[in-house]
Amino acid sequence: MSLDLAVIGGTGLYQFPGLEVTERVRPETPYGAPSGDIVIGTLAGKRVGFLARHGESHTIPPHRVNYRANVHALHALGARRVIGVNAVGGIRADMGPKVVVIPDQIIDYTHGRFTSFCDVDGAKVEHIDFSEPYTAPLRQLLLAAATRAGVAVVDGGCYGATQGPRLETRAEITRMQRDGSDLVGMTGMPEAALARELGMAYACMALVANWAAGCGDQAEISLDEIFANLAECTSQVPRIIQALLAA
Ligand code: HPA
Repeated sequence: MSLDLAVIGGTGLYQFPGLEVTERVRPETPYGAPSGDIVIGTLAGKRVGFLARHGESHTIPPHRVNYRANVHALHALGARRVIGVNAVGGIRADMGPKVVVIPDQIIDYTHGRFTSFCDVDGAKVEHIDFSEPYTAPLRQLLLAAATRAGVAVVDGGCYGATQGPRLETRAEITRMQRDGSDLVGMTGMPEAALARELGMAYACMALVANWAAGCGDQAEISLDEIFANLAECTSQVPRIIQALLAA
């Protein structure tokens, strides 16, 4: 039986509250094992799969996530729609801590990651169109669901994907701002491109955990601050997803 929706949880979202769990699976893929069990259950009467991108105890750093295995495993389970939930730093003035953003663009600054299913010997070479990196109808469903759930979200913005695991320098953020990045996170890519390669609809829910380096008045960014802000934002995620599925 296929999945109506898959959710990939980022930092701060290691389980999906409200999901009535029926099974846990961990399929092997040609690319290795996914980050952990895919937890399958029912939400608003629909079959949903949840995967914690960093592992359930957050042991996998952004640059070591097996994005290909994660996306391939969800696809093999029949998921054709994926919501990626990502913790981010805010660059744009209206994207401060605790704001939820549904971005519409990406700039990829990552390196050394496996970015495609094509880089296996003999694989057919694909050049996906990525002008709109997120699937517009799925973004619209998320935005409408947020409205119904009474959660304020920002519609649009550019996600700058950095390599991590360190946070950025002020100069790097200034450059990203000049480039047009509104948010900075470490896990948005290559996940979105891999989902597109497999023909899956993909949208991102970005949870702002902190001001990016040099954007707020803090001298340095503390992990305590990041986790405290995320704890507030992550509680909104199940409400929005539930409203999306109930429609
Ligand atoms: N930079 C990159 N990734 C992040 C940040 C940040 O400031 N906050 C949360 N994820």
